[in-house]
Amino acid sequence: MGSGYRERGGGRRSGRGGGPRGRRPGGSHRRRSGRPRPDLSPTQVRVNDYSTGWLSRGFPWVYRDEVDGGAEHRQAGDVVEIVGADGRSRGTGIWAEDGRVAVRRFRADPGPVDDALVAARVAAARARRPLPPDTTAWRWVHGENDDLPGIRVDAWGTELSVALDSPSLECLLPGLRDALRRLHADATAIWLVARPDPRDAEDRPGRILWGEPAEDGVEVTEHGLRFRVRPGRSHDVGLYCDMRDLRAWLRPYLAGRRVLNLFAHTGAFSVHAAAHGAGEVVTVDLSSRYLARARDNFRLNGLDPESHRFVAADSLAALDRLRRKGERFDLVIADPPSFSHGPRGEWSVTADLGKLVAACCRVLAPGGWLLVASNHGGLSPRDFGRLVQQGALKAGRPLRLLHEGSTPVDFPAALSFPESRYLKCWVLEG
Ligand SMILES: C[S@@+](CC[C@H](N)C(=O)[O-])C[C@H]1O[C@@H](n2cnc3c(N)ncnc32)[C@H](O)[C@@H]1O
Repeated sequence: MGSGYRERGGGRRSGRGGGPRGRRPGGSHRRRSGRPRPDLSPTQVRVNDYSTGWLSRGFPWVYRDEVDGGAEHRQAGDVVEIVGADGRSRGTGIWAEDGRVAVRRFRADPGPVDDALVAARVAAARARRPLPPDTTAWRWVHGENDDLPGIRVDAWGTELSVALDSPSLECLLPGLRDALRRLHADATAIWLVARPDPRDAEDRPGRILWGEPAEDGVEVTEHGLRFRVRPGRSHDVGLYCDMRDLRAWLRPYLAGRRVLNLFAHTGAFSVHAAAHGAGEVVTVDLSSRYLARARDNFRLNGLDPESHRFVAADSLAALDRLRRKGERFDLVIADPPSFSHGPRGEWSVTADLGKLVAACCRVLAPGGWLLVASNHGGLSPRDFGRLVQQGALKAGRPLRLLHEGSTPVDFPAALSFPESRYLKCWVLEG
C-alpha cells in the first residue's frame, strides 16, 4: 500500500456549494451502550479500517464508500473531523457531496481549516518553487501535493487561474483569492476555471474572482520564449507547463535537426525547436485553430512560420503520408491526449500507443530520436513501457532509452499521493 495507484476518484459532477468554514471540528466521544465504538459529535465522520490505514500513511482522500458513520445531514463545504476505525482522530477535512471523494483532508490534526491555513499553504507552495528565470507560466498550487487537496492554481504572467475539483471547496475561495493577491503584487486578474461538465459540448468560460483580465489573453514566457495564452476563457489555456523541462532538455540537441511535432497543440515544442536552430519543423494537429495559434507563437518569437510546415491532420494519417513520401525526421515528438475523437474515429492512448510508436519509427531517420509521452493517469509506467516496446517491435526498430523525463519543480508529487505521478515520458534513440 502506498506505492501503487489508489483507485482514481475525485468526481467532477456538480453538487451543492458553500457551507461553514473555519470551524474547529470536535466534540464529545460518547459511547453507545453495548457498542465498542464511540459515538460521533455533529462535526465528526468515522471511516472504515481500510481508509484509516491509508490516512495514517498520509493519503488525503476518504472515498464515499469508506465513510462508516456521520454522513447524515452533512452539507458540501462542511469542515469535518475524521475519526479512524479505532476511534482516534485522523485530522480535518472538507465534506463533498459530489463525486466519489467524500472528504478531502487538509490537516492531520483536529485544527481549523480557515483563511490562515490556506494563506500559509499558498505561501509555502510559492516558497518551494525555485522557478527557472524567464518563465512566467507556472503552477503555483498543485492540489494534494501542496497540502491543498482539490485545488490547483496556475500563474499565467499577470493572470492567475484557480481550478477546484469539487464545488464543496468554494468555501475556501475568498481566503485563497486574498492570499494570492497579497503574494502576487503584479496580478491583474484571478479566474475561477469552470468545472468540466460532460453534458457541455464546449468548455464553459470561467468566472472572474478578482480584477480585470486582458481582453485577448496574456503573453507569458517559458525559458525566455514567448507564448500567448488565454487563461479562464476555457480549460485550454494554450500551454502545457508540465512539459517545460522536456522542452528545455531538448534544447542542446536541436540545431540543424529535422523535427516532426505530432499532437502539437499551439506548438510549444515546435517553437522551442525552431528557436534553437532546428532545420525544418513540421507541426501536426487535428485542429486548425490550434495551428493558427502555433503560427502566432512562431511570429511572437521572431520565427517565420513560412519556413516551416503546419499540417491540420490526424497524426496517424499524417505519419502514413510522410512515410509514403519517404520523409524522415531526426526527432519525432508524440505527446498524444489520453482520448480524442478524430476523422479516423476514437483515439485512446491505451489502445493506440503501440500503433503510434510503430508509425513514428517508420519516419525516424537512422539514429533519430523519438520523444513519446503520456499524461494519462490510468496508464501505469509499466504498461506505457510495454506499449512503446510493442510498437518498436512491430516496426522492427530496436530503440534505446536515452532519457526519462518528468514534471518540473512546480508539479511536485507527494509520495503519499501516487496519483500525482501521472507523466510518463521517454526519449528514445533508434
Ligand atoms: C495534450 S495536447 C498536446 C500538448 C503538446 N504536446 C504540448 O506540450 O504543447 C493534445 C493535442 O492533440 C490534438 N489531437 C487530438 N487528437 C489528435 C489526432 N488524432 N491527431 C492529431 N492531433 C490530435 C489536440 O487538438 C491537442 O492539441
